[in-house]
Amino acid sequence: MLPVLKHHLWRRVRAAYYAFALERLPLGATLGRFVSEWETAQGFGDSPKAKPTWDAEYGDGRWAYMGQQHELTRYWTLIGYMHSLGRGREYLDVGCGEGLLFERFKPLDYQRFVGVDISDVAIEKLRRYNDHRTSFLSADGDVYEPDGYFDVIVFNESLYYLRAPVRSLERYAQSLKPDGCMIISTYTASRRSLAVLRDAKRTFKVLDEAKTTQGQNSWLCTVLKR
Ligand SMILES: C[S@@+](CC[C@H](N)C(=O)[O-])C[C@H]1O[C@@H](n2cnc3c(N)ncnc32)[C@H](O)[C@@H]1O
Repeated sequence: MLPVLKHHLWRRVRAAYYAFALERLPLGATLGRFVSEWETAQGFGDSPKAKPTWDAEYGDGRWAYMGQQHELTRYWTLIGYMHSLGRGREYLDVGCGEGLLFERFKPLDYQRFVGVDISDVAIEKLRRYNDHRTSFLSADGDVYEPDGYFDVIVFNESLYYLRAPVRSLERYAQSLKPDGCMIISTYTASRRSLAVLRDAKRTFKVLDEAKTTQGQNSWLCTVLKR
């Protein structure tokens, strides 16, 4: 097939996948893998990636920009919800990266904070924080089974990097305390992240949602309950 036709066909398959399927339909997972591979080949930045890619990106400092001022308001919106809804109790941060959220949140105090990320390189940078109430570990968020129960489980620009985001959310919801909630940050320029959020909202109750705009970028911060 001519490359231009193939490209056009893939764009349509991708649009249909996000409009209707995600991981829910039969063969949704397989289709999702093909779509991700195509997206990665096209240079999309919001598609699931293999662990060595994340390690290389953290090794190169690719994600350090998230610690700069132009992303600040998004972090403080998340932290505001985390503090008021979790009341300083138990937190799980899935896809915690280099701990940018944790470093800003920790002065507000907590009883337990667990961060998981697929990248060993990112987690290695957080090793110095591990103590009796803080732990950072490398694990694949698509299959990780949390230990105990949490007041808040947060996905800060990480949920849409999971291969089965909504199925994973359903699994994480089992690790919430009765009053617990999940907080999701969604970059609004990403088709994938908006499709994931749409399906998450069909599956869970929306307790609250705030939109943050800084410069050219906007993010939704959504609080979900079982
Ligand atoms: C855009 S970064 C956000 C990092 C972090 N939440 C922050 O605010 O700095 C996405 C993160 O998701 C992590 N990630 C991607 N796929 C993952 C998976 N399957 N399991 C766990 N973490 C994953 C990446 O390693 C990366 O740290």
